Amino acid sequence: MFKSLYFNKFHSIILLTACISIFFVNCKTTPKEEDYKIIQSSVAKKAMVVSAHHLSTKVGNDILKKGGNAVDATIAVQYALAVVYPRAGNIGGGGFMVIRTKDGKYDSIDYREKAPKASTRDMYLDSLGNVIPGLSRNGHLAVGVPGTVDGMFEVHKKYGKLDFKELIQPAIDLATNGFLLTPLEIDRLNKFKPEFEKYNEQPNPFLKDTPWIQGNRLVQKELAHTLELIRDKGRAGFYEGETANDIVAEMKSGNGIITLDDLSSYHSKWRTPLVGDYKDYKIISMAPPSSGGIALLQMLKMVEKYPLADYGFQSQKAMHLMIEAERRVYSDRAKHLGDSDFYNVPQDSMLDETYIADRMSDFDPTKSTPSDMVAAGNFAVPLESFETTHTSVVDAEGNAVSVTTTLNSNYGSKVVVDNAGFFLNNEMDDFSAKPGVPNQFGLVGNEANAIEPEKRMLSSMTPTIVEKNGELFMVLGAPGGSTIITAVFQVFLNVVEFGMPLDDALFAKRFHHQWLPDVVLYETGGLTEASKQSLEALGHSLKDVKYMALVKAIHVQPDGALHGVGDNRSEDHAEGY
Ligand code: GLY
Repeated sequence: MFKSLYFNKFHSIILLTACISIFFVNCKTTPKEEDYKIIQSSVAKKAMVVSAHHLSTKVGNDILKKGGNAVDATIAVQYALAVVYPRAGNIGGGGFMVIRTKDGKYDSIDYREKAPKASTRDMYLDSLGNVIPGLSRNGHLAVGVPGTVDGMFEVHKKYGKLDFKELIQPAIDLATNGFLLTPLEIDRLNKFKPEFEKYNEQPNPFLKDTPWIQGNRLVQKELAHTLELIRDKGRAGFYEGETANDIVAEMKSGNGIITLDDLSSYHSKWRTPLVGDYKDYKIISMAPPSSGGIALLQMLKMVEKYPLADYGFQSQKAMHLMIEAERRVYSDRAKHLGDSDFYNVPQDSMLDETYIADRMSDFDPTKSTPSDMVAAGNFAVPLESFETTHTSVVDAEGNAVSVTTTLNSNYGSKVVVDNAGFFLNNEMDDFSAKPGVPNQFGLVGNEANAIEPEKRMLSSMTPTIVEKNGELFMVLGAPGGSTIITAVFQVFLNVVEFGMPLDDALFAKRFHHQWLPDVVLYETGGLTEASKQSLEALGHSLKDVKYMALVKAIHVQPDGALHGVGDNRSEDHAEGY
């Protein structure tokens, strides 16, 4: 199994040659960033960090080694990702964090973006009531009021151990000194150049005349200055003063509507995590406005009574059952889920065992249930973007954090705040711009997720922590838009039902059904011809996609060691000590 990826073979060869010559003249060498090896699967005795970039994972480990706890490390990783992983790491976006303390207490915080106060329900519709293509996805009007900076201060106030300045400093250093771009970031920066040009009038560090190539470093002086303002002025360094003025000026330069009042009045929210059982396991996940927790618990409950382990991994029986559960859950999601501060989400009813049993009462093991029999509506759908990012952390005392954060699409709205150097999200696209019209993930919504001023848009982020017999068992989550929930569902089942070690569980190809469109997506190469035929024989339509979701997880081994795994679909890095 492919478990690691050399960061830069070319530089490794040069460095190796240099080291050999230097060795003979008895000189000491220090390891270079260019020589870094991405570690996707690793085991450590005390603590573990899994994040989307080797440098953010390193920052998290350094904080843990200095005596910081899992929350401290997570804050440091979040800020480091805003520098080294600009396509999803952010200060211009938002997220959700689930925490389990060493003494078994749960907590979660919602720092999801909010609709600006001037938002209106029909703001993305033309005079005929049709959705204006792209308006909620790119450019200034797509931006929700960012929550990340407020969220990080909130969690630090409640759980932080080290001084906040120490946690943000590594990000400031990375932005000031620059860092070597990874192959995937180079690819994305080049790919999105036309959009950066379209939505930004001023120069910014992500745009250059010639294509980005291996060996290029990204230096972000303006972002470093913004991070210094946050370090020195706290929350006000972002939501007031210079940065807030820059954001509002940026809004005015496009057709954006975020005001100083929107920024100063933004507050994240502590929410009671969702807790449910699956056999001997306790699942702790995120409540609305994320759909992740409810949907994950519903899926698990729908399949719990079936002998999945006997059916076998990706057997026809197991896949059919899981697909039918996924179909029903996403149909519920479209109808019932939205921001519970604005809409009466029937959370308890949706998780009621009788209701869940009833939802599966028409499950037929011999054939698929067409989605238009589960609910109405049909259309073709692209799955355009999977960019969000997840970090899983366990510290030496056993505190655990599962956090997913996002700008929504790759580089969010593509708008960089002039003078302040960071991308703004395009999270407004996660609202239902019009009932029944799909967003970029092909997800449809309704009244529950209609746009209202200060409302939070529905999310699929599923930061999750699992206990077994009262002990920490697993920390997991993923980016991947609508495929996040099914990826978390499948990785968990791969471990607990199909007996896989965590790396195999993560690296295994996945499949996904989201009610509409009525199609099973599967990762290219993931199904044999025989499997495909056996699913088609049950009435399923299949479509292959390159990849789905990028899971980052930690599994506590029977001897207490921590197995951390990042996804081999990307450049994730798992490391501990
Ligand atoms: N922006 C993707 C999500 O929140 O689900």
